[in-house]
Amino acid sequence: MNRLPRLRGQLFERHEITVEKDIVRARQAVGRAMDGLGAKAIRKTRLVTAASEIFRNGLNYGGGAVALIHCDAGNRMVWVDCIDDGPGIEDMALALRDGYTSGTGLGRGLGGAKRLVDEFDIVSEPGVGTHVRLAGRA
Ligand SMILES: Nc1ncnc2c1ncn2[C@@H]1O[C@H](COP(=O)(O)OP(=O)(O)OP(=O)(O)O)[C@@H](O)[C@H]1O
Ligand SMILES: [Mg+2]
Repeated sequence: MNRLPRLRGQLFERHEITVEKDIVRARQAVGRAMDGLGAKAIRKTRLVTAASEIFRNGLNYGGGAVALIHCDAGNRMVWVDCIDDGPGIEDMALALRDGYTSGTGLGRGLGGAKRLVDEFDIVSEPGVGTHVRLAGRA
């Protein structure tokens, strides 16, 4: 799979997402990372909400995922990577389109997440997995 560049900043927390409860734990960690950089509530909520959608996709479609949260204090950014080794995404343009779902969702997770954050990247390879990266400025 096409790899995203190495992140700057410090690893804050790493979470394995294998059950529903892990999504809660991981999203709380994203919130704490934003708190650590003194983020305003609205900015924190945006990133936490977006990350939550991505973690849920990683669990539901990726069959589980690893979440890596990095803090870049110098740039006041929190970075969230969600990596799975699931089936991957065949048609990225379609997956990103609002209203498209291969399941029973609303198909608004990816597009919604993208609009909520300051940085959004996604790479995926069928049969290999999916790597989503989000960042929010505190
Ligand atoms: N990690 C992933 N691995 C494989 N496919 C994915 C992954 N994330 C998203 N997809 C695909 O992209 C589609 C769109 O995702 P999106 O989050 O926008 O909508 P949804 O999850 O189907 O519904 P919603 O998030 O609104 O409940 C999914 O239906 C799925 O087919
Ligand atoms: Mg979704």
